[in-house]
Amino acid sequence: MKTILITGGAGFIGSHVVRRFVKRYSDYRIINVDALTYAGNLENLKDIDQRPNYQFEKVDIVDANAVNALFEKYNPEGVIHLAAESHVDRSITDPLAFVRTNVLGTVNLLNAAKANWADNLGNKRFYHISTDEVYGTLGEEGLFMETTAYQPNSPYSASKASSDHFVRAYGETYELPYVVTNCSNNYGPNHFPEKLIPLFINNIVNMKPLPVYGDGNYTRDWLYVIDHARAIDLVYHEGLNGETYNIGGFNEWKNIDLVKVLCKLMDEKLGRPEGTSLGLITYVKDRPGHDRRYAIDATKINEELGWEPSVTFEEGLAETIDWYLSNDEWLQNVTSGEYQQYYNDQYGK
Ligand code: NAD
Ligand code: DAU
Repeated sequence: MKTILITGGAGFIGSHVVRRFVKRYSDYRIINVDALTYAGNLENLKDIDQRPNYQFEKVDIVDANAVNALFEKYNPEGVIHLAAESHVDRSITDPLAFVRTNVLGTVNLLNAAKANWADNLGNKRFYHISTDEVYGTLGEEGLFMETTAYQPNSPYSASKASSDHFVRAYGETYELPYVVTNCSNNYGPNHFPEKLIPLFINNIVNMKPLPVYGDGNYTRDWLYVIDHARAIDLVYHEGLNGETYNIGGFNEWKNIDLVKVLCKLMDEKLGRPEGTSLGLITYVKDRPGHDRRYAIDATKINEELGWEPSVTFEEGLAETIDWYLSNDEWLQNVTSGEYQQYYNDQYGK
């Protein structure tokens, strides 16, 4: 039986990756390694957590001893590394938390893999999940290519860039077999409501202001999370060692345009008069160091591995809204407690 450690499997993207692997590969033993921070939620996996090929390990990747013990216990053939501090706004208030998990945590995993795999690197794979934010910001034109120079602008993206470099360096120095993907903004079910789309869905439901940063003309390239999980599956199995693949939906939206579409759809779904949610839009102080535009060129993964998104933005957004509206208990659970404090600190009462 092949054993794969998936880190961050209780989070947003990680839970979709774990579900896909557990359901698709009954001959793999999937070990979900997660510290269960505010963003980790085992409720995300309750539909598959009784399957015989799934196991959860509560481990903080910052703890090198615990990470080493995990490798000794399971002798995994592969690591799919998603665990991270992932929210840009939190990185602005607490950069060190991002250095600890994203940089040190990644190096701890690399060290454990290097030691555990030393005798036979042949059938091993360290797959590092990264972000398009490492490339910095684009002007009106152009797309991020795999060859675009790194120019991270936030503590979050600087920590992810650093971890990408460490993965590559372990490949060069110790011949650790690795692959890296850099993906654009994901959206979909189980997305923690600190990020734009789920935050705004939750606020619309509760008739709270929709805090649009700056002039709202910032551009992001949105991909449905299930399509990211499909890409991760493909790259894990068919990507080439030492390669980087950009993943994105060729789906650019200015924030304000996306918010207007979301408002319209939410009014329809909630049976509210058209324009109700638009009235909640509130322009607020900009995010410091806010990247103006992200857009991914996903030609390489398309041409070399045959991946393309399977869901249109209209379909994905409708499915996402439906999921949040029919999972209000999930939303209530994750927005109680610590979330309230975060929200007040970030946006005021
Ligand atoms: P998330 O914040 O929803 O989940 C992160 C998970 O990691 C949580 O389950 C959390 O408990 C766990 N974690 C955090 N610190 C940990 C630690 N020290 N030890 C063990 N587990 C820890 O994040 P996400 O949005 O699902 O992102 C997953 C990965 O994908 C990240 O590496 C992120 O940089 C990358 N990524 C995200 C996006 C996006 O749009 N969300 C896009 C591209 C890349
Ligand atoms: O591009 C990939 C990245 O996408 C991932 O690496 C990150 O983990 C993920 O969080 C995401 O980063 P962003 O900063 O782009 O996502 P966020 O949802 O925080 O913001 C999206 C855009 O919306 C951005 O331009 C900031 C803006 N925004 C966000 C929030 C939370 C607002 O205008 N108001 C808000 O309240």
